[in-house]
Amino acid sequence: MSHTPHIDSAELQSLVEVDRVHRRCYSDPDIFELEMKNIFEKTWQYCGHESQIPKPGDYYTFQIGRQPMVMVRGEPSASHPEGAISVLYNRCPHRGVQVCGSRAGNAGDKLTCPYHAWRFHYDGSLESVPLEKGYRDTRFDRNSPEFQMTKAEASDSYRGFIFARLAEGPNLLDWMGPAKIAIDDMCDRSPVGKVEVVFPSNRVVQRSNWKFFMENQIDAVHPSVTHMSTGQAAAEVERKIQRQTGEKPLHYHMLSAFTTPFEKWDTLVNTGYPYGHIVFSGYMGLRPTDPDTRAHEAVLEQAYGKAKMEEYLDRNIHHVLLYPAVSIQSPLQQLRVLRPVAADRTLSEIWHFRLVGAPEAIYRRALWYFNLVNSPATLINADDLENWQRGQKGLSASGSDWVSFHRDYGRDKDDGSVLESTNGCSEAPMRSQFRAWLKFMTVNH
Ligand code: FES
Ligand SMILES: [Fe+2]
Repeated sequence: MSHTPHIDSAELQSLVEVDRVHRRCYSDPDIFELEMKNIFEKTWQYCGHESQIPKPGDYYTFQIGRQPMVMVRGEPSASHPEGAISVLYNRCPHRGVQVCGSRAGNAGDKLTCPYHAWRFHYDGSLESVPLEKGYRDTRFDRNSPEFQMTKAEASDSYRGFIFARLAEGPNLLDWMGPAKIAIDDMCDRSPVGKVEVVFPSNRVVQRSNWKFFMENQIDAVHPSVTHMSTGQAAAEVERKIQRQTGEKPLHYHMLSAFTTPFEKWDTLVNTGYPYGHIVFSGYMGLRPTDPDTRAHEAVLEQAYGKAKMEEYLDRNIHHVLLYPAVSIQSPLQQLRVLRPVAADRTLSEIWHFRLVGAPEAIYRRALWYFNLVNSPATLINADDLENWQRGQKGLSASGSDWVSFHRDYGRDKDDGSVLESTNGCSEAPMRSQFRAWLKFMTVNH
């Protein structure tokens, strides 16, 4: 059960030093509860993509921190011909029952509570109550917010990606800042500037704290270690295929790229921003010259002109993190979002997207990556999960209290708000994330 922990600001400060953090940040259930309250329930959180709920009444349920939420598509109207999307607490104002019971579905005619059939419009307002006369001369007021499904404090969408925030805060674009490039980079690769999800998503329960995932995404030291065996096996097969056919299939490169030596990884750059977001510059041959890419270039050139096409396809981004819970690999149309469950349990949703109007082969490339690298069925994901689980066990044990982020400390380009690593293997992005973490965690103390 969640409760409000009592950890004061001084105690939190003592856990986060400039180059190391205390293991309690990953293992202490009270700290986890405070993270849910002070980070997840205060900042913009990713709900889903509007293509997940294309028709009126379509809904998708998820958690923001400890709160059960639902996003639902409304009826078409003059101001919203496609139907406005509302993000609501998935809770009936009568006795609290969750109105939408499935992960995703269609509500039918109205949002109807399964317990006593209170019915709500798709924007959460009350439509009807059976035998409403029973409430005559009581404090029941059908127009009061107390008798509606409560809306998130704010919700907004950027190029089809829907976010919600449960407390006061900056607007969505200000919060994303330069990290919005992840969404632009993905959408700009479509000749109509749009992407759509491909069902289903994979869902994995990681047996580790959510921060393991967020640190791992921008950890350039681990691939050549953790994923070396997969990379080498793929490289061997890749060479064999090349000998036989004269060509290297791109999808093998997605795996053989894990043999990239440390020195190459070290040439990359991570930039950390005040709200905790990170932009990680690219590493793979993401602008190949095969016929499929040429066809994609032609479609984009026709839509946007040559200069824009070059700009869009030449961006050198590998990973962008929207802190605290989203990881986007825009050149391969991948998005992963975390829904933390406990200090040592994290649910992740793994999505991939189709570029509307782009050649089918470009979609298949995203699908290869989804299946070969990000899916729980692959060795890559399995190896990462194993590391994080073992890390969680280690940090839950006593013996030593500190987690080290010393690599390249003192060499960052740091103006006090934006923190840029001098090299790809630096632990600057982890330090940057913890700087944001401490700010969020101590803000109300
Ligand atoms: S709990 Fe929802 S109608 Fe009674
Ligand atoms: Fe990994």
